[in-house]
Amino acid sequence: MDDYITLTYHGREFRLPLVAGSQGETAVDISRLRQETGLITLDPGFANTGSCRSAITFVDGERGILRYRGIPVEQLAERSTFKETAFLLINGALPTQKELTRFSVLLNDHSLVHEDMKIFYQSFPRSSHPMGILSAMVNALRSFYPELQNLEEEINITVTRLLSKVRTMAAMSYKISRGHTVVYPRSDLTYCANFLNMMFDSPVKPYELDPDVVKALNVFLILHADHEQNCSTAAVRVVGSARVNLYAAISAGIAALWGPLHGGANQAVIEMLTEIYRQGDLGAWVARAKDKNHPYRLMGFGHRVYKTYDPRARIMKQMAHVLLEKLKVSDPLLDVARELEAIALKDDYFVEHHLYPNVDFYSGIVLRAIGIPTNMFTVLFAIGRLPGWIAQWKESMDDPAWKLCRPRQVYSGPGERDYVPIEER
Ligand code: CMC
Repeated sequence: MDDYITLTYHGREFRLPLVAGSQGETAVDISRLRQETGLITLDPGFANTGSCRSAITFVDGERGILRYRGIPVEQLAERSTFKETAFLLINGALPTQKELTRFSVLLNDHSLVHEDMKIFYQSFPRSSHPMGILSAMVNALRSFYPELQNLEEEINITVTRLLSKVRTMAAMSYKISRGHTVVYPRSDLTYCANFLNMMFDSPVKPYELDPDVVKALNVFLILHADHEQNCSTAAVRVVGSARVNLYAAISAGIAALWGPLHGGANQAVIEMLTEIYRQGDLGAWVARAKDKNHPYRLMGFGHRVYKTYDPRARIMKQMAHVLLEKLKVSDPLLDVARELEAIALKDDYFVEHHLYPNVDFYSGIVLRAIGIPTNMFTVLFAIGRLPGWIAQWKESMDDPAWKLCRPRQVYSGPGERDYVPIEER
């Protein structure tokens, strides 16, 4: 293979080096383009732009492949736990028993949240969206806990603190939003069991942990744990590139994830399925999604990278079936989702546009079965994505090619003109 491409501009030839990834993908390195040619590139939405080299997650959108640190997500969903997967993403390899025990101890030691933070929670209006609260509270963590030092041990503690506290804070916000007493984490429970217990235990109705539900939550979080340079991860990297503290960078990621085109789609899907269930006429919904004069899109369908079935959606769909059967729950929205998928996958528009269900299409059904309220769905996505954000932030901090993220633009506004005093306008 050539190791450069040639660009001809104004009769001059410029060589742009090619960069090869470990799985056969190739990129053109344009880092000296402006210096050498005076040109910049224009790529709205960065659909063709690689922003970094990364050894964390591999996605092949044409073949429907997703691997964390080389391990297929299917294997992790079947055999790993979220805690172990988080360790893998952040540290690069699966933990030994000793490392896992140490990680569990650290997660347990840092699981409590400063009591003063409760006052913050109580000050948010009851109607606040939990994602807005979570983003604000994660940013506020910086005021309660010491600044991150560059020592490896300090970073490990800050990272573990964040992983553990975000879970506690998410459950806390739910309890406070309902006007209920906060349930504290327990040292005898695993990461996911602890979260469920903090969400649902009550002095008047003790929560009974069901291993199938704990497993389902583990799988849900594993499937969301990283997805290379998606919108929220890009936000974490961009904000982190200004060398802000980790909490501020993650807070930016949470804000980006909230959007309905990204993580907020899991809430939007359930709202859409509920409306379809109420109103019926699936065909009309599909027709509206295809109508170019209508901004509506089928939520939970389509993906920037996957041009085939999202491998996470496949696992999520299967899990929705199994979990509902095990819990002996019948959810009419699962039937609506299946019908909608069947119609869309046969429709020429969806076929031609390569639009398939993404991770958010079936995830809401799983979360509903677990008992998670709809407005908390994206918070669950955030808990899942946290190890990915942390791993990507850590990688960017250690990257010898690190630079402040500062894109350029093609200016299209007016040329120079004089200021006009207000009385003359
Ligand atoms: N329903 C109907 N048409 C769609 C949809 C959809 N869900 N998604 C894309 N299209 C069409 C779009 O109108 C365009 O058509 P045309 O080329 O004829 O103008 C074409 O497909 C390409 O769309 P695009 O907007 O250029 O593609 P994108 O890569 O920018 O969009 C997306 C990706 C996820 C924003 C988009 O598919 C979408 O809005 N989906 C619904 C929201 C959703 O489910 N988001 C969750 C994504 S997965 C979770 C995560 O990781 O964030």
